[in-house]
Amino acid sequence: MATNRTFTMLKPDAVANGYIGAILEKITAAGFRIVAMKMTQLTKADAEAFYAIHAERPFFGELVEYMTSGPIVSAVLEKDNAVEDFRTLIGATNPAEAAEGTIRKMYAESISANAVHGSDSDENAAIEAAFHFAGREHF
Ligand code: RTP
Ligand code: MG
Repeated sequence: MATNRTFTMLKPDAVANGYIGAILEKITAAGFRIVAMKMTQLTKADAEAFYAIHAERPFFGELVEYMTSGPIVSAVLEKDNAVEDFRTLIGATNPAEAAEGTIRKMYAESISANAVHGSDSDENAAIEAAFHFAGREHF
């Protein structure tokens, strides 16, 4: 499997609860290399654009409100099989259903405040990384 990249955000609950360090430790211990990273706070327009694929879903308003509620840490991660392996590391969307040892099981509060985002395909990883980072911010 060729080395490739995924995109993640540590969501407002993870930042507010003081879990940035613990979550980054799990990510790097799992073999991911951080190739871009920064702390920002999404505007409503940012969150609506980032999650546009979910615009028709009943939880969209709640999702946008939540994702703009405080600072996030966004990052691009590199590893063999990055997208799939990162989804395994974070666990199910609903932390109540996430496997033991996954980041969401350990650090998430609820299905909305679920600690981390992980891209769901190589194509979306590239789109999401480009949304958050300029080319010169990747290392
Ligand atoms: P993410 O994109 O954040 O990595 O999460 P995911 O793939 O596991 O889940 P997705 O279906 O893409 O949903 C995006 C985010 O929307 C919130 N959500 N709320 N109330 C609900 O039923 C519901 N379903 C999804 C979650 O915060 C989810 O991470
Ligand atoms: Mg998703």
